[in-house]
Amino acid sequence: MKDKKTFKPCDLIIFGALGDLSRRKLLISLYRLENANLIEPDTRIIGVDRHTHASAEFVEIAHKSLQEFLNDKLDDKIWKRFSARLSYLKIDLTQMAEYQQLHTVLDTENRVTVNYFAVAPFLFSNICQGLAQSGVLTEESRMVMEKPIGHDLKSSQVINDEVAKVFNETQVFRIDHYLGKETVLNLLALRFANSIFTTNWNHNTIDHIQVTVAEEVGIEGRWEYFDKTGQLRDMLQNHLLQILTFIAMEPPVNLEAKSIHREKIKVLEALRPITRANVDEKTVRGQYTAGYMKGKAVPGYLEEDGANTESTTESFVALRVDIDNWRWAGVPFYLRTGKRMTNKRTEIVIYFKQLPHNIFADSFRELPPNKLIIHLQPNEGVEVEILNKIPGIDEHIKIQKTKLDLSFSETFKKSSIFGGYEKLVLEAMRGNPTLFLSREEIEQAWTWVDSIQDAWRHSGDSPKNYPAGTWGPVASIALIARDGRAWEE
Ligand code: BG6
Repeated sequence: MKDKKTFKPCDLIIFGALGDLSRRKLLISLYRLENANLIEPDTRIIGVDRHTHASAEFVEIAHKSLQEFLNDKLDDKIWKRFSARLSYLKIDLTQMAEYQQLHTVLDTENRVTVNYFAVAPFLFSNICQGLAQSGVLTEESRMVMEKPIGHDLKSSQVINDEVAKVFNETQVFRIDHYLGKETVLNLLALRFANSIFTTNWNHNTIDHIQVTVAEEVGIEGRWEYFDKTGQLRDMLQNHLLQILTFIAMEPPVNLEAKSIHREKIKVLEALRPITRANVDEKTVRGQYTAGYMKGKAVPGYLEEDGANTESTTESFVALRVDIDNWRWAGVPFYLRTGKRMTNKRTEIVIYFKQLPHNIFADSFRELPPNKLIIHLQPNEGVEVEILNKIPGIDEHIKIQKTKLDLSFSETFKKSSIFGGYEKLVLEAMRGNPTLFLSREEIEQAWTWVDSIQDAWRHSGDSPKNYPAGTWGPVASIALIARDGRAWEE
């Protein structure tokens, strides 16, 4: 048996340790990793923020955050172990001299420093300079950042250039939390470990593919950020395009980061541009109005707290995407994502082609296509829709649609299914870049999305309305119906 790989312990610095991202996500994920015994015993977690706190006070804040945001009960023994790793430093991130304090806590000889930038992007450059000037960085140091990495190609280049002055590309870990989701990774296994899918994964057998990322949440006090961003840049530029690359990429040579990044970039390069000339037939933008979510009245986008009532920002987007390469020629991908939709549902549906001839006309005038449905959330799993004979001794064979249904939680009862963050934070501490985004990928994705944004700006049209609690504007149904297809119910 192979030895279990050991990883060097880390000093994980969370810049912005008192902020939302740190309190709601990072500390929770780290605690869960602790609970699963996945953090190296000597790893330490250093919170950095600009407010004055002693380490003991930070431990108290972390405890409160866990009580508030951890869904499970806090285990005293695990908490004791976890809290022993925590310490705090007060640093004003804009004051270079203050970074010197890091010398008092870091141990760059025996530990790798992982710098987690859990702050707004305008501070990234300050942190990079502060770290560089204080002399705490080594070749082993890493930095972790997440979206928004810019709001278009140019602004993302500015951020990446700033970071590149201090860290080389192999030291940079860009997070898209969808890549930590089990079912996204399972796409690799489904596609490249199963001959029934590997041989059928192309334009010969697949008719079209749908990706739906429907959210129940509205703006939730994030108006400032969201209104400048919109659903295209908030969700589609990153999460949906990442899912798309995993569905569409060619088999990578192996599971190394370089091989996977290379194949994903090729998909992004092959996306047919959506431009001023074709934007109307390829895209639908929506904005929710007041409606009902599970029977409860909710305000419209323009009535949310802090709203600018003139806003034309989209909270929903649906696209028809074409990939111009040999594998996918003639196979449209329909993507849709929106806030305040009927329920939270993230799924991929692969529609296989209909058979050319039907000998079961007693049951179906037209044979329904086989479907492979991959549920990303809320309940991870994979279903295959096939036709089976209804048992019986009728004169004619009768068939009906049936499902081969694999629920992850049922099937893999013993292994816990971690959320995206846990997996990604752990991989960043281990230094495994496979699940992180390369600069080239992000820039390619922005180039494609910028063209849509430009076409929308140019058209001057407003988003179409849809009541909260529905599946989006009627125009999104028309988008797919024009091709003789319908969204998966
Ligand atoms: C974030 C977006 O990246 O993803 C949010 O900024 C969105 O607006 C969230 O709500 C959705 O994540 P998940 O994991 O709940 O699908």
